[in-house]
Amino acid sequence: MIIGFIGFGKVSQNLINLIKSEDVSFITSAEGRSPKTIERIRESEIDVADTFEEVASVADVIISANSPKSAVEVAKNYGKYVEGIYLDLNNISPDTTFEIAEHVNDFVDGAIIGKIDSAHPILYLSGESSDRLMFLNEFIETRKISDNVGDVAILKLLRSSYTKTLSALLIESSQIAEEYKLCNELFDILSLTEGDEFREKSLSRINNTLNNSKRKSEELEEIINYFEGNDLTMVKAAFKKLSQ
Ligand SMILES: NC(=O)c1ccc[n+]([C@@H]2O[C@H](COP(=O)([O-])OP(=O)(O)OC[C@H]3O[C@@H](n4cnc5c(N)ncnc54)[C@H](OP(=O)(O)O)[C@@H]3O)[C@@H](O)[C@H]2O)c1
Repeated sequence: MIIGFIGFGKVSQNLINLIKSEDVSFITSAEGRSPKTIERIRESEIDVADTFEEVASVADVIISANSPKSAVEVAKNYGKYVEGIYLDLNNISPDTTFEIAEHVNDFVDGAIIGKIDSAHPILYLSGESSDRLMFLNEFIETRKISDNVGDVAILKLLRSSYTKTLSALLIESSQIAEEYKLCNELFDILSLTEGDEFREKSLSRINNTLNNSKRKSEELEEIINYFEGNDLTMVKAAFKKLSQ
């Protein structure tokens, strides 16, 4: 089995470290890539083809892990050469997922939940061909959601709408608590019902949201546009707060 990568960043490198099997070999290309990526490829000691077209033609499984902006272009350029399965792991919307599916035959919509270098990342898959990727479960916990391409992308959006809206609420409550000099006490009493790790996780979520508020509000806007027919009262309030 040959796994080919289009995009060789943190995700691809970590997958190689996780998938340790004599039956699997890896290939990518340095075509047009930055010195950082070329060095990463060199360190990983995997096969290197001259072009991504060649990678797409020889691999049994193609993994597209480059960037949300490149995902469609990569599928358009190389999808036609892929005879095996095409797994997209980019952080993309359901609309982008459906667009990619038009350029690829055996398409699987995937997401890594949790950072790829975290202790226990989980790979979610949807699409009929997902069954043929369940061998990955031996190396990284892998769960198939359904036969429908796009289901993983929709779940990703719902997860993101929940976590970002919750973060906006946490920011609001903690700022008021701060004013009353009751911030520690607030997290103490919340931890009684929400669990011991609640304080640490909330503070990390608050900092992350405040440091990336522009990107987070753009992501919320994308969610609002995608689910425009649904009741999004809470998400819209979070969007307003993070846009301030
Ligand atoms: N990191 C995570 O934990 C995580 C989790 C879930 C999902 N994701 C998603 O997975 C994707 C990859 O993430 P990452 O963390 O591995 O990113 P990264 O470390 O920034 O690496 C991106 C890689 O893609 C390459 N690339 C960009 N455009 C390309 C193109 N048109 N053709 C071929 N290669 C291209 C880059 O090469 P250059 O250096 O030459 O630009 C680089 O090697 C992103 O869409 C991200 O949203 C990441």
